[in-house]
Amino acid sequence: MKTVKDYIRTIVDFPHEGIMFRDVTTLFADPRGMRLAIDQLLAPYVGQHIDKVVGLEARGFIIGGAIAHQLSIGFVPIRKKGKLPGAVISEDYKLEYGEAVVEVHDDAIQPGEKILVVDDLLATGGTAEAGTKLVERLGGEIVGCAFIIDLPELGGRKRLEDLGYDIHALCQFDGA
Ligand code: PRP
Ligand code: MG
Repeated sequence: MKTVKDYIRTIVDFPHEGIMFRDVTTLFADPRGMRLAIDQLLAPYVGQHIDKVVGLEARGFIIGGAIAHQLSIGFVPIRKKGKLPGAVISEDYKLEYGEAVVEVHDDAIQPGEKILVVDDLLATGGTAEAGTKLVERLGGEIVGCAFIIDLPELGGRKRLEDLGYDIHALCQFDGA
């Protein structure tokens, strides 16, 4: 029986020399892999009340859409700066080199709504932390943060757990 991790391809030296890129397109392209990943991402939340799934650009949109459909609930995208057409709120976060900004529509979440945050990969946790801040600024309550991949050496899980979030990841890879 193949596991979720078995469907993930590693591309060496992308996007820079020395980086092992964990490529989930091979997981998404396989019908068993895709189903396995979505079912496992959802498993801890079965029976919990969730109002919306929030997906982080870009691969969080793919799994977030599938999860929202499975739960028959709404999906909200958190996008890189300048992509959303309506009124937004923004959060800065740090990248390996420099900074980035993510945004969400300011009317996308209502106060008190229970939110599941999803993305493909947890590394330093900077992207996910920015996402959780946006959700909380709109009054959303984070039920959990779910990822396909955790890179534990980069500390994201600890960072988010220290902020009080429940983290669910399907597999881990050593090294960046
Ligand atoms: C990758 C990945 C996560 C984020 C994790 O996205 O998809 O969203 O990095 O890194 P962090 O935990 O250190 O913040 P990337 O910024 O490459 O953008 P993309 O998903 O739009 O390709
Ligand atoms: Mg991303």
